[in-house]
Amino acid sequence: MKLSSRMEKLPPIPTLAMNTKAGELRAKGVDVISFAAGEPDFDTPVHIKEAASKALFDGQTKYTAVKGIPSLREEICNWVLDNKGISYDSEKEVVVTVGGKQSVFNALHCLLEEGDEVVIPSPIWVAYEPVANLTGAKVVLVEAKEENAFKATAEDFKKAITPKTKLVVINSPCNPTGCVYTKTELEELSRVILDSNAMILSDEIYGKILYDGEEHVSIASISEEMKNKSLILDGFSKTYAMTGWRMGYTLGPPEIIKAMDTLQGQSTSNVTTFAQYGGIAALQGSHDFLNDWISKYDERRKKIVEGLRSIDGIDVVMPKGAFYVFPRINGLFGLEGPEGILQNSVDVGLFFLEHARCAAVPGAGFGDDNFIRFSYATSTENILEGIDRIRTAVSMLK
Ligand SMILES: Cc1ncc(COP(=O)(O)O)c(C=O)c1O
Repeated sequence: MKLSSRMEKLPPIPTLAMNTKAGELRAKGVDVISFAAGEPDFDTPVHIKEAASKALFDGQTKYTAVKGIPSLREEICNWVLDNKGISYDSEKEVVVTVGGKQSVFNALHCLLEEGDEVVIPSPIWVAYEPVANLTGAKVVLVEAKEENAFKATAEDFKKAITPKTKLVVINSPCNPTGCVYTKTELEELSRVILDSNAMILSDEIYGKILYDGEEHVSIASISEEMKNKSLILDGFSKTYAMTGWRMGYTLGPPEIIKAMDTLQGQSTSNVTTFAQYGGIAALQGSHDFLNDWISKYDERRKKIVEGLRSIDGIDVVMPKGAFYVFPRINGLFGLEGPEGILQNSVDVGLFFLEHARCAAVPGAGFGDDNFIRFSYATSTENILEGIDRIRTAVSMLK
């Protein structure tokens, strides 16, 4: 059986691959510490589970509108107004998707085709480039330099944009680098976008996970004109520890939201009905639990950065948001381990897995082979133990 040529363009997602490998080793009894998963280690707050459970037992088990129940869409718009300062029409300007991932897939498929260009900073999260390739559009990567805290400048974007550029993607706070674009940087970028034919897809899924007094600004909040050129992606997975619920959303101009609704209607249809009621409870309920989660992430962030910086051959930029660090590990290239000379981030990832029993995701999958991604959504004990193991393993390299 020959698969469609479309599938030749689509690699397996690297973040899941490392997590799966770690799981296989664990199943064999090996005690692996995973820094690979892109999800909070906290459980979904009880009031959210109760609301979904009540909805399930109350019979909320049928199809809903593809774009989500009206009360959830209204709550999303209220929350976005309160948290991002942007007003959206809950009937026409929001679609609830099966996770942020479906938002990416559907938005890119509704906007891009052969002959279009999409500008994406690199390093960045693993999903945009493969899906953009699938649409047939040309991906133009812009280097987000480490010396600029992994942020591409407005000038960098300007140089990459051509009359064919249909879309620019940003992700702030960023997975894997933890970089956060400031209001000034977004204002500069918005001038570039308004001067072009391009729209922007702003992935704000980590917008509530910030440190050191950083502020989250949505590029769509900069002006009404900018709102009209923006698609905002957000969701429940990271803020409320609801990764398994599969619930995200996109906000944007009515004609694009309508197209996304049509595409979703031809694939998954609505998000699981009773889960949507959990989403309402999440948005309406107290967010006090987040203070505790963020102070825990913050403590772990400092410990993992300090630990990684203490290992020869590894250096790290302090992340400002999300729950990832993206250390430079090319200082280990050229050194010899039991399996041979380490030559790239995959070799380093496999070396850490085999000899330090720690799973992290090679930077190659995020667009930069000189780095590796650690998630610190795991306990401080795991972080301290993992750093010790890595230090010991690295000291064996010759
Ligand atoms: C930057 C970014 N955007 C979107 C998502 C999608 O999350 P989900 O599909 O769980 O809502 C992820 C998940 O890892 C992410 O890291």
